[in-house]
Amino acid sequence: MKVSIIGAGDVGAQTANEIAGRQIADEVVLVDIVDGLPQGRALDIQQYCPTIDSETKVFGSNSYADTRGSDVVVIVAGSPRKPGMTRDDLLGINKKIVESVTKSVANYSPNAVLLVVTNPVDAMTYAAWKASGFESKRVLGMAGVLDTARLKTLIAEKAGCLFGDIEAMVIGAHGDDMVPMMSHAKIKNRSVTEFLTKNEIDEIIKKTQLASQKIIELTKRSTSFAPAGSIAKMVEAILNDSRDIMPCSAYLEGEYGYKDVYIGVPAVLGKDGVESVIEYELDENEKVMFERSVTHAKENIAKLGFGEMPEKVIDDTKDVEDEKKSTFVSDNMENAISKITADMQKLGNEPDQGSGNVENAKGEKSPISSG
Ligand SMILES: NC(=O)c1ccc[n+]([C@@H]2O[C@H](COP(=O)([O-])OP(=O)(O)OC[C@H]3O[C@@H](n4cnc5c(N)ncnc54)[C@H](O)[C@@H]3O)[C@@H](O)[C@H]2O)c1
Repeated sequence: MKVSIIGAGDVGAQTANEIAGRQIADEVVLVDIVDGLPQGRALDIQQYCPTIDSETKVFGSNSYADTRGSDVVVIVAGSPRKPGMTRDDLLGINKKIVESVTKSVANYSPNAVLLVVTNPVDAMTYAAWKASGFESKRVLGMAGVLDTARLKTLIAEKAGCLFGDIEAMVIGAHGDDMVPMMSHAKIKNRSVTEFLTKNEIDEIIKKTQLASQKIIELTKRSTSFAPAGSIAKMVEAILNDSRDIMPCSAYLEGEYGYKDVYIGVPAVLGKDGVESVIEYELDENEKVMFERSVTHAKENIAKLGFGEMPEKVIDDTKDVEDEKKSTFVSDNMENAISKITADMQKLGNEPDQGSGNVENAKGEKSPISSG
């Protein structure tokens, strides 16, 4: 089993370390545009393997040819968030990187499953799907497993229970409007509402939505340990054809009432990627939150030039309670359209980071082969 990871930055390198450490694959190839970075990190990780009796081979490269014949390709190349940035601020720059990377890896591994991590992940997964020409089930995004880990951490802290006793899932967009599915959350098979008050649950939801922001503020850099563990968990499920149900960004074709969008939903993971999407009954509040999430993801997808701009437009200053009372379309439409037009103009002016073009998000140059 061969896994390639494109992007040898914080998350990519940590993911290679997790996959090699857990001996999930026989071979891990780490690729980056920066000369020396993937090679050096691969050597470090390879030398870690004997300390934990892992026989995984780890290799670093600046050439996509070395990814040939991968079973899974993790796409984590691109700019991360800095303090004060939202994931959406990365839309334009990361689209170009993700599209160029995807074309190169699809060329060398036409049968691979593509696992997209680059933010904003739901829109980037859509862009990767389009660029790959793959069936939608073989392109998926990682976020829900990470958001669920964060939710479980907060539930365990408040309820004083073990992580392993918690059953919970976070769906929706990977952003501040993600949807912790508290109506299905359980501790030892009993509803969390038996252990936590409504106020405590509301506080856990908010903290889950803002979990990464808190870490970015503290460390002044993007998160990496929990994302890498989450990616490794998904890669393992795919390579082992485990059929585990995990929340991931999957393409909807009518499930939950939505189409032509990548969004976080519970999915059965197997050797072909998303084997099926599982529909859970959502309560009224979760339905509103999920609709908001889908609208947000569709807005981002439309800003990339795909699909259609949704009729509803998100007003970030409103909370879900307000949305239940009004449809918020007309008041905000004008503002939203000018904001989107400005964003589109910005996208058109980004420096080119396309296939084979040798400049990364930091403006560093490298002779990478784009295949
Ligand atoms: N989906 C999630 O839950 C999740 C979690 C954490 C991070 N992320 C996202 O993952 C991405 C990477 O985060 P990071 O902290 O590792 O960033 P990083 O800056 O540490 O690493 C990114 C790497 O991508 C490389 N790169 C840029 N352009 C490239 C190209 N064209 N080809 C090959 N490599 C290229 C850079 O050289 C850099 O080494 C960000 O977009 C971040 O927001 C997503």
